[in-house]
Amino acid sequence: MFGARLPQVFLLGLVATAVALTDTQRCARLAKTHIKNVHSLDTLYLRANESYRVPASCGSGLGDDLLAQTSVNVCVVHAIYNTSRTSATRIEVWLPDPDAWYGRILGTGGGGLAGCVDYDDIKWGSSIHFAAFGHDGGHDAPNGVALAKSDEIIIDYATRALHVATVTSKLLVRTYYGRPHDNAYYNGCSNGGRQGVRNAHDFPDDFDGILAGAPAFNFINLLAQSNIANLASHKLKDDDWALVKKEVLRQCDGLDGLHDEIVTDPDACQFLPEVLLCQGAKRADCLSPEQVEAVRTIHSPLYGQSGELLAPRLDPGAELDTGLWPLIFGPSFYEFGQQWWQYVVYNDSTWEPSPDFGYKEIADANAREAQVPVASFDPDLSAFHKRGGKLLTYHGTRDILIPSGTSLWYYQRVQRALSLPPSAMDEFYRLFLIPGMSHCYLGADASAWQIGQIGFTVWSNASDSHALFALVDWVEKGTGPETIRGSTLTTTNATTPPTRLHCKYPAKSVWQPDVQDWTCIESP
Ligand SMILES: *[C@@H]1O[C@H](CO)[C@@H](O)[C@H](O)[C@H]1NC(C)=O
Ligand SMILES: *[C@@H]1O[C@H](CO)[C@@H](O)[C@H](O)[C@H]1NC(C)=O
Ligand SMILES: *[C@@H]1O[C@H](CO)[C@@H](O)[C@H](O)[C@H]1NC(C)=O
Ligand SMILES: *[C@@H]1O[C@H](CO)[C@@H](O)[C@H](O)[C@H]1NC(C)=O
Ligand SMILES: *[C@@H]1O[C@H](CO)[C@@H](O)[C@H](O)[C@H]1NC(C)=O
Repeated sequence: MFGARLPQVFLLGLVATAVALTDTQRCARLAKTHIKNVHSLDTLYLRANESYRVPASCGSGLGDDLLAQTSVNVCVVHAIYNTSRTSATRIEVWLPDPDAWYGRILGTGGGGLAGCVDYDDIKWGSSIHFAAFGHDGGHDAPNGVALAKSDEIIIDYATRALHVATVTSKLLVRTYYGRPHDNAYYNGCSNGGRQGVRNAHDFPDDFDGILAGAPAFNFINLLAQSNIANLASHKLKDDDWALVKKEVLRQCDGLDGLHDEIVTDPDACQFLPEVLLCQGAKRADCLSPEQVEAVRTIHSPLYGQSGELLAPRLDPGAELDTGLWPLIFGPSFYEFGQQWWQYVVYNDSTWEPSPDFGYKEIADANAREAQVPVASFDPDLSAFHKRGGKLLTYHGTRDILIPSGTSLWYYQRVQRALSLPPSAMDEFYRLFLIPGMSHCYLGADASAWQIGQIGFTVWSNASDSHALFALVDWVEKGTGPETIRGSTLTTTNATTPPTRLHCKYPAKSVWQPDVQDWTCIESP
C-alpha cells in the first residue's frame, strides 16, 4: 500500500473474487522489489471502477480532486526514482491482471512544461491490455517553475525521466508477471511527442515502437516563434482574426478541390494578407497596415540573423481554433514561452518578453541549450534505425501550437542524415499529416482527426484506422501502415465523407469528385 498518507480508496461496487485476492497479494509483494535509485515504492490493487487519490499535486486527465479511476483490475505501482542528488522522477505503472496482459508495455509522456503523470493515457493503455506507465518528467507541477531549481530537473524533463521510468517499468513487469515483456511501445503527443522522438535518439533500446504526435521538437526555436507570434497578435482583435481566417479559406480552402474549411496541403497555400489592407482608415472589414504586417509575421517562417531557417511558419487556417487559440494568441503572454525564459534561460521569475523579443533572447536561450539540451531536433536516429525500432508520427495540418512543417522538416532531416532512400525510411519512420486536425486532436468539422491516437479518439479498433494498433502491427507483424482512416466527430454533414484516408508522407491526399471521396496519390 502507499503508506499512511495514502490512499483513499473508493469502492464503486465489485465483490472480490478468489483470483482477485491472489492478484492483490502479488501486487502487495511487488512493493518489496528492490530497484536501484528508487527510494519509495508503493503498490495498491485497484479493481475495475475503483479510484484512488493520486500521490502527486497534478495529473493530466484528472480533475482538481486528483481521483484516478481504472476501468479494469490493475496493480498500481507508485515509485520515486532519484535521478541525481537534486532531482527525482515520479513514476506510476498500471499492471492489468496476468490473464488480461498481452505481453506489451506502453510508456506515456507529458504535455507543455508540465510534470504530471498522464492518467488518461495509462488508464486507456491498461484497458487495452498493456502494462502502462507514466512519469512526471522530473517535476511534480503543471508549470515550469521547478525548472529553475536545478539543471538536473531540466535534464529529467528533456529526456531522462522517460528513460528511468521505462527501465523501472520493465523491471516491475518482469517481477509481477514472472516473465519479461515481449514488446515495449511509447505513445505521446506535443511535449510527449518530443519526449518520444528524443528517446529514440538518446535511448534507442527503450522502445520497439514509438507513436509520436505533433512533437514539440525544435523546442527553443518553437517557443521563440510562439513568443514572437504572441506579441504580434496583440495588434489584432478576435474580429480581425475572423476576417483573416475567412480570407485564408477564400484563398486556400479550394486548392484541394473541396470547400470544407480544410487546407489539405499548407505548403500549397501562399496566403497574401495584403488583400485585407484597408484603403484609408481601419474599418471592421479590413486591416490596418500594422495589422497586415503582424499577420505576415505570424504567417512567415522564422529566420535567423544569417537567413537560416529556425522554424517553419504556423499553419494557415488555424485562426481562432478550439480552446488552444488563446494560449498563444490571447491578450496575455504565451505562458510556456514566458516561463522558459523566466525559469530556464534567465532564472528571473519577473521576466516578461519585451516588444522587440528576438535574436538576443534566442541567442541567450541557445547558450543555455548548450548546457541543458532540450531542443530534441538531432536527426541522427541511426542507432534506433539499426536496432529495428519503428517510429510512427502524425501531425495535424491546422496545428495552432506547433507548425506541421516542423514534422515534415524533421523527417527530411533524418532522411538526409541517414542517407536513406524512401523504401528504407519506410522501414522505420513514417509520417502522417492529418488534414484539418488541430493540436494532437480536434480540428475543422470535416477533419477526420479521430485516428486512435488517444483513448477518446478511438472510433474503430481495426488497425488500419487506429494509430496505436497500426504501430503494434508494424512491430509485431512487420507491416507498417500505408494509410490510416480517420473519422470526423460528427457525421451530420452529408456533403463531406464521415471518414477520410490519411496518407503516409510523401503521398498526398487528393479529392476524387467522381467517387466523392479522398484517396492517396504518390507524389510524382
Ligand atoms: C533519494 O532522495 C531522497 C530525498 O532526497 C533521499 O531521502 C533518499 O535517501 C535517496 N535515495 C536513494 C536511493 O538515492
Ligand atoms: C464499471 O462501470 C461501468 C459503468 O458504470 C459498468 O458498465 C461496468 O459494468 C462496471 N464494471 C465492473 C467490473 O463493475
Ligand atoms: C535560480 O535562482 C534561485 C533563487 O535565486 C536559486 O536558488 C537557484 O539555484 C537558481 N537556479 C540556478 C539553476 O542557478
Ligand atoms: C458541410 O460541407 C460543406 C462542403 O462540403 C461546407 O460548405 C459546409 O460548410 C459544411 N457544413 C457544416 C455545418 O460543417
Ligand atoms: C475497442 O475495444 C475496446 C475494448 O478493448 C472496447 O471497449 C471498445 O468499445 C472498442 N471500440 C470500438 C469502436 O469497437
